[in-house]
Amino acid sequence: MTHLADRLSYFQESVIREMTRKANEYNAINLSQGMPDYSPPEELTEGITEAINHNEHQYTVTYGRNDLREKIASKYESYNKIQYNPEDEITITCGASEAIASSILSLLNPLDEILVLEPWYENYVPIAYIADGKPIFVKLSEKDFSIDEENFKNKIGDKTKAVIINTPHNPSGRVFSKEELSFLSDICNDNNLIAITDEIYEHIIYDDVVHISPASLNNMFERTITISGYSKTFSITGWRVGYVAAEKELMTGIRKVHDYLTICAPTIMQFAALKAYNLQQDYFESLKNRYQKNRDEIVNGLRKLGFGVMEPKGAYYLLADISSFGMNDLEFADFLVKDEGVATVPGSSFYETTGRKESDGSKYVRFSFSHKLETIKDALLRIEKRLTNI
Ligand SMILES: Cc1ncc(COP(=O)(O)O)c(C=O)c1O
Repeated sequence: MTHLADRLSYFQESVIREMTRKANEYNAINLSQGMPDYSPPEELTEGITEAINHNEHQYTVTYGRNDLREKIASKYESYNKIQYNPEDEITITCGASEAIASSILSLLNPLDEILVLEPWYENYVPIAYIADGKPIFVKLSEKDFSIDEENFKNKIGDKTKAVIINTPHNPSGRVFSKEELSFLSDICNDNNLIAITDEIYEHIIYDDVVHISPASLNNMFERTITISGYSKTFSITGWRVGYVAAEKELMTGIRKVHDYLTICAPTIMQFAALKAYNLQQDYFESLKNRYQKNRDEIVNGLRKLGFGVMEPKGAYYLLADISSFGMNDLEFADFLVKDEGVATVPGSSFYETTGRKESDGSKYVRFSFSHKLETIKDALLRIEKRLTNI
């Protein structure tokens, strides 16, 4: 008889982190996990030394440093066009991951339903189960990962409480348009739903696309929980600093959970994160440019090798269609990682699998292009060599 809680049986250990272990085991290039191999800006790393010199070693107030919350509020106003009061509408968390967990735990009663766009970033579903809620999957269109309105409407029922939206979207790289988000806002308003929006890649967008925060749309402020963080924009995934913003009543609930889960985000890292606000616009331009170059390299390279690829417009991932290689995603990912190959994530990790022999994700593997251009070029050469052995 197991001592473990039943809810753990609804989800598995993270496949992404498992692929990272395999990458280490086989000495493969790791394009599975979304970890940049770029150094953070010096201003931020110097902030750590300064934090130590300032003796910043004890807990901060549970919601996070006041000055950091004020900076976040200014960023929301200028970049996202949303006005949050730093006093009671913003909380600094242990990464966006904890913000997602605290938000979902603060909303769901047992068996409440939360809509999750499929494919999804792998944290959402386990957290919904940990909250004793029920994730309901809303498949994005097969053609271009856009929102399928009919499908969406059909998934709403009496128990639907919330929807989680991720834009720019991991794993597809889609950035949802104003029309799509307006549709979502109508749906939320008509059905009294809360939107949880994960905008962790808000600064990583390509070509001429713009990032739109759902909370900035009509009537959405009161019913949106907006999440972001420093991990991706500043290449500091290990620092564990993110944040969540929402109108006061929703925030009161989130803060209750956050306090008992973590007390506060790491104090030294909160101090150092303040330095991000000294960076100028050119930092954000060069961030986009470097990932856009990586995107172009990997999209063109994979297409030449026979993968089907939709060009990502944001974030630093793509789902590559592997149908032409005669393997499913698990077989292909395994084949590619071995003997100093390349680690990817099997597509089924982002799709519903229960009760299905092959999931809708079986024809994809996910590549991350958060690595230096030379690493991506090297990975493409390894893939080319490997494919000659099929
Ligand atoms: C969509 C999405 N949200 C959240 C996270 C986690 O962010 P953090 O490092 O701030 O916890 C990731 C990390 O890959 C992600 O892809």
